[in-house]
Amino acid sequence: MSSRTKKDTNWTRRTKQLKGLGLVCLYILSFVTPVRGYFLKGCRISGGDAKCDKKNLDAVPQDIPPTVESIDLHKNKIPGIRTDDFRGEFPRLTNLNLGNNFIHYIDTGAFSGLIALKTLNLNHNRICNLSENVFLHLNGLAELRITYNCIKKVELNAFKPMTNLKILDLSHNKLNISNVAMMLRHLPNLQKLYLSANALNTFQSWEVTDALVDLQVLDISKNPIKVFNITSDVFPTLTTLSVGSTTVRHNMTWNVSNKTFLNCVKSLDISMISMSLSGIESLMETVNSSLTYLSMDAMKQNLGKLINISCSIPTMTKLVIQKNKLHNIHSDLFTLCTSLTELDLSNNLITTISDDAFRSLPNLLILNLSNNNLSLVPAATRNQSNLRTLDLSHCKISALECSNFANNTKLTQLSLYNNKIQTLKNCVFKNLRKLQVLKLQSNQITTLNSAFIASLPNLTTLHLEENKITTIKSKEFKGLGSLSKLSLQNNQIKTLNKESFFGLMNLKQLQLENNALNAKEVQKGVFSPMINLKTLDLSSNFIKFGKKQSLRVPPFSNLSRLEELSIFNQGGRGHTILPINFLQGLSNLLSFNIRNTLLNDLDKDTFTWTPQLQILDIRSNPLNSLFPDFFIQLRNLTKLYLSNSHFYSLDFLIDINLTKLNYLQAKSNQYSVIRPEVIGSLPALHYADLRDNVFTCDCDNKAFMEWAENSKQTQVYEAHNFQCNYPPSFKGKKLLDFDFRLCLLDVGFIAFVTTTSVTLLLMLVSLTYHFMRWQLVYAYYIFLAWLTDKKHKKKRAPYQYDAFVSYNTHDELWVVQELLPKLEGEQGWKLCLHHRNFEPGKPIIDNITDAIYQSRKTLCVISHKYLESEWCLREFQVASFRLFDEKKDVLILVFLEEIQRSKLSPYYRMRKLLKRQTYLSWPKAAEQTELFWEKLRQALQSGDQSDEGVLLHTTLNAP
Ligand SMILES: *[C@@H]1O[C@H](CO)[C@@H](O)[C@H](O)[C@H]1NC(C)=O
Ligand SMILES: *[C@@H]1O[C@H](CO)[C@@H](O)[C@H](O)[C@H]1NC(C)=O
Ligand SMILES: *[C@@H]1O[C@H](CO)[C@@H](O)[C@H](O)[C@H]1NC(C)=O
Repeated sequence: MSSRTKKDTNWTRRTKQLKGLGLVCLYILSFVTPVRGYFLKGCRISGGDAKCDKKNLDAVPQDIPPTVESIDLHKNKIPGIRTDDFRGEFPRLTNLNLGNNFIHYIDTGAFSGLIALKTLNLNHNRICNLSENVFLHLNGLAELRITYNCIKKVELNAFKPMTNLKILDLSHNKLNISNVAMMLRHLPNLQKLYLSANALNTFQSWEVTDALVDLQVLDISKNPIKVFNITSDVFPTLTTLSVGSTTVRHNMTWNVSNKTFLNCVKSLDISMISMSLSGIESLMETVNSSLTYLSMDAMKQNLGKLINISCSIPTMTKLVIQKNKLHNIHSDLFTLCTSLTELDLSNNLITTISDDAFRSLPNLLILNLSNNNLSLVPAATRNQSNLRTLDLSHCKISALECSNFANNTKLTQLSLYNNKIQTLKNCVFKNLRKLQVLKLQSNQITTLNSAFIASLPNLTTLHLEENKITTIKSKEFKGLGSLSKLSLQNNQIKTLNKESFFGLMNLKQLQLENNALNAKEVQKGVFSPMINLKTLDLSSNFIKFGKKQSLRVPPFSNLSRLEELSIFNQGGRGHTILPINFLQGLSNLLSFNIRNTLLNDLDKDTFTWTPQLQILDIRSNPLNSLFPDFFIQLRNLTKLYLSNSHFYSLDFLIDINLTKLNYLQAKSNQYSVIRPEVIGSLPALHYADLRDNVFTCDCDNKAFMEWAENSKQTQVYEAHNFQCNYPPSFKGKKLLDFDFRLCLLDVGFIAFVTTTSVTLLLMLVSLTYHFMRWQLVYAYYIFLAWLTDKKHKKKRAPYQYDAFVSYNTHDELWVVQELLPKLEGEQGWKLCLHHRNFEPGKPIIDNITDAIYQSRKTLCVISHKYLESEWCLREFQVASFRLFDEKKDVLILVFLEEIQRSKLSPYYRMRKLLKRQTYLSWPKAAEQTELFWEKLRQALQSGDQSDEGVLLHTTLNAP
């Protein structure tokens, strides 16, 4: 955008401001009857979900909109549920999470209004009894979870309403069998019942009066059951049964009177069961014809014999033997297990495995040896030529040999993460032509040693994160033509050359976050081979973008399919600027995250390359510009993160119309007023976080607060907690408590008068404007400055500063790095800078005038950007008025760039001044910076003589 069109936009904004007053009037009138909107204290609405978790709430909030489909209240401090907490106003609520609270009572019928409720979670509370009508009217409930409570007492009809309950989880309570029997009477449709870790000491089928014809899963593990007695076919469809015991020793007897009673059970868990070997044998007999999966963790009996019994069941294919403190696997342990396809030996203490331990398992497809003490890849796995999945993670393997996987040619998944592997050899994976997933993360690998050059044509996922890799050599991944995900985060990668990723033409996701990458040691074109990349994460490195305005080779120019780019959190010091064409080529980019990178400027053309961009995160950058013009390119944004970026206002949004924006995160900035036009420019907004700003408590915020309170579309997060920062008498008070009713008459009247006169005026002005725009804009500023100047003349305070420095944020680097250390550090002047000394919350024009009148001098740092900026020109105007008004030599002009005479023509005053006034030129001082600073010192020192004469001449000519 040229400076000319920029002026145009400023002008349209101004006319809109005037029209806006009229709109405010209409706007206010439309809110005669306030309705409950999205003005919530403690919850966030997202889609149809109310998220009120982890908020320290001590009661169910009363302002949740009745339209929500789910309410999440977990991790709060709610002590109980009262009858009117959910007053029957949630006809669509299907999901309610009340887990992790302090609930110890539930009033009768507390949930009775929640007729659509499907799932209810009360886990981790303090409920000890369930009284008669707690679940009144919950006939539609399908899933109820109340684990980790202290339920001991269940009243007769507590469960009666829930005739459609399918899943009931009451694990970790204190229930006995008569409680359970009473419940089950009312739950004919139950499919899954979890009663693990209760106080059941018998389980007898005669207690269950009616058969549970749909029950598929029954978990009664970790109970002190002494008698398991099934004498009638009460679970005809049971497929999954857990009957393991507690650690307390008690001998369990097993009596299933008819072998057909449990003949659907496929999956059985008898972990820790307290039973004799012969008892287990008769237990196994009852499931002999159907069992396919058996889990035997932490067994007390002879494991060899247990394995032999279980492997005599011909249908058994999956065996899990975890936590059995196994040290050695002998050659004959699995001799009877010939039909096994899956064996899980994880979480033992295995150090050695006999070479032929798995010889009798020719059909083994999945072998899990993770979490053991193996220091080598066991030779026993080499003969398993059918193996598809091998897990050797969390062991102590320090080296890999070429023979390790040479015969596992059908392997598709290999896990070697969390070991101590230091080096790779180029032959280790050479025969794994079918391998798809390789997990090598969390080892100590320093170099890749060409391990991936010639093999692994089918590999799609490679995990190498959390190693000690420092560099990726040329063509290191050449053999991985199918790779789609490569994880290299959390290494120490510093150098990359332009062939480091050669051959990865199918890569979709590359993780390089948390390395030591810096722009110098990453060669240009490094990302070019990955033409199909969709996600690239370069966050938490040391990438500095530099000061250059345009790059010769834009880094991502080949990545037209990239959708997500993250470069946030870059270490190092000093502000940076993103080169204008940094994003060139990213025509399909949807999400760009550059938060926390010390970025202090974004050029207006930065986003011309990314027309599809939907999500932009520029949080936590010192972007304290007043009118960030780069937004003009971002019409498709749906989510915007602006927090903590030193923005003074959101007014820039008015001209842009982000019509798709639905999420705005803009807390911790310097907004004092949110104008109604800003709200109007965001028609799709659903959520706005504007906390921690410096709101002015006056009528300017009336429309904003009314909208925040009443909008049924947008939730302004925590709006009830916004605080006033200005005027001083209101500081610390709540914005919501400000009495906006006092504004109504005033604004209404003004609006009436202005809307009519403005229409006439506009017609006149637009004609004049068409022919004399420069003069007009300029005259407008002069008029404004004259107004503020008049206002100021009356109050004369003693000087607080030696000089107010007026500059554009584009030149902040020079001001902070060059000017400040010299003038404040060496010469000892006290300077006033807007980013540092302006009073937050105070209207900006007041801040400017105060700063100028409280300083002896005004030092204008003039550049092209300065001349384009509305605020800088205002500063200049106010200062020059003071000059003429007080007849004091208060202006010092420093030219940061060469500026042609013609460029100055619209700024008559400045040109005139230049003829007579002090000015210095930085580019011309290149050779003699000391002289430059000395002259500046003299200029600052010069007294307040009413001498209009030239106090100081440089050796240089006027621009
Ligand atoms: C299961 O049945 C088979 C015969 O089909 C028999 O050989 C085996 O011993 C039985 N196993 C158990 C644990 O009852
Ligand atoms: C691979 O298997 C073949 C035949 O099954 C055998 O001769 C060879 O020694 C095995 N190689 C390794 C490294 O175990
Ligand atoms: C913004 O939206 C308004 C109303 O929808 C429209 O009149 C105006 O032209 C739009 N402005 C821009 C810059 O697109």
